[in-house]
Amino acid sequence: LDNGLVRTPPMGWMTWQRYRCNIDCKNDPDNCISENLIKSMADKMANSGWRDLGYVYLCIDDCWSLKKRDSTGRLQADPERFPSGIKNLANYVHSKGLKLGIYGDMGNYTCGGYPGTTLETIKIDAETFASWEVDMLKFDGCYSTSEEQALGYPKMSEALNATGRPILYSCSWPAYQGGLPPKVNYTLLGNICNMWRNYDDIQDSWDSVLTIIQWYAKNQPVLQPAAGPGGWNDPDMLITGDFGLSFEQSKVQLAIWAILAAPFIMSNDLRTISQEAKYLLQNRLLIYINQDSLGKQGALISKVNSLWVWKRELVNGQYAVAVMNSGTDGLPKPYTTSLGLLNITDCSDGYKLYDVFEKEYLGLFKSGTTINMKINPTGVILSFIRPIC
Ligand code: GLA
Ligand code: GLA
Repeated sequence: LDNGLVRTPPMGWMTWQRYRCNIDCKNDPDNCISENLIKSMADKMANSGWRDLGYVYLCIDDCWSLKKRDSTGRLQADPERFPSGIKNLANYVHSKGLKLGIYGDMGNYTCGGYPGTTLETIKIDAETFASWEVDMLKFDGCYSTSEEQALGYPKMSEALNATGRPILYSCSWPAYQGGLPPKVNYTLLGNICNMWRNYDDIQDSWDSVLTIIQWYAKNQPVLQPAAGPGGWNDPDMLITGDFGLSFEQSKVQLAIWAILAAPFIMSNDLRTISQEAKYLLQNRLLIYINQDSLGKQGALISKVNSLWVWKRELVNGQYAVAVMNSGTDGLPKPYTTSLGLLNITDCSDGYKLYDVFEKEYLGLFKSGTTINMKINPTGVILSFIRPIC
């Protein structure tokens, strides 16, 4: 969507994966969906280095509203959990140099059972969000027919545009239509949305991450051309810092999301996050790859047994290559290649190689120089490759 936003993939934080629809502020005041939760994350994002690395979108997912619209037909935040109201919360978030995201649903109800946005209420809801000075809308698709979605998603895009406020528009539409043509029209999506969920919800497990990675690999001929500045495929939130992934598995999610030019939207607890998880999520070279200005999504280029090799072309003749080992036999797997074999040959003087997660310079490589790696089980080596030409 050509609204000037997200020329590189958005980065930020979102409530859903970690906090779900926890509305029990009486028994769980620190973890329920509330302005306190959002403010505490805003403080962390501003004060613990996140914002300055680009993590700026702070997004409330489902379960923020009351079960009823107000007397004028507007959505309203739950006054017990959001006593200051969304507009004041947006002011707070903006005062920290961050942007506020909110959640709506094209349909009769949100997935969590809160009031949805029907075709009739699209305009008033877009106006409400803009009047609250919200910066992003995740527009889900529960409880609607495909006909309603086909009308509603473009209509919301127009309604947001008509407010005059730049609002990042994240569409869950394709995820409700199987993610593939002919049901999904990626040209249309690119024209009306800034990002779009293609596939199932992420869960806090390696199995879920692997299933998502496999789906994006299998369907890359369709998905890769759909992505670019202003519009991104969204394989869902980053779960590094939660409970389900090992250190190695966290690297895999981050490396592949960077190769895929995917949004880097975390869902974790920034108040208690481990040093290891923070170290991975705040890796500058990883973020540099994810945020590459060429905006080209990378792809799986070879798959030999458990070794899957991914490559992304970056600006100025640079590349990122991720070699992941999906194997679970407990053995680190050797992999031997060269830049020639990886088809990285434009600069005949050679390339400098860096190991992104080890933060190590590996040396100067020419097209025939052997590259030896050993990749841990359910792990990855992400290389950054810079021409000296
Ligand atoms: C759907 C979405 C999730 C989340 C929930 C909220 O499952 O895919 O990302 O927004 O709804 O209920
Ligand atoms: C209800 C609504 C319809 C449609 C379906 C989708 O029946 O009245 O407009 O949204 O739900 O399940």
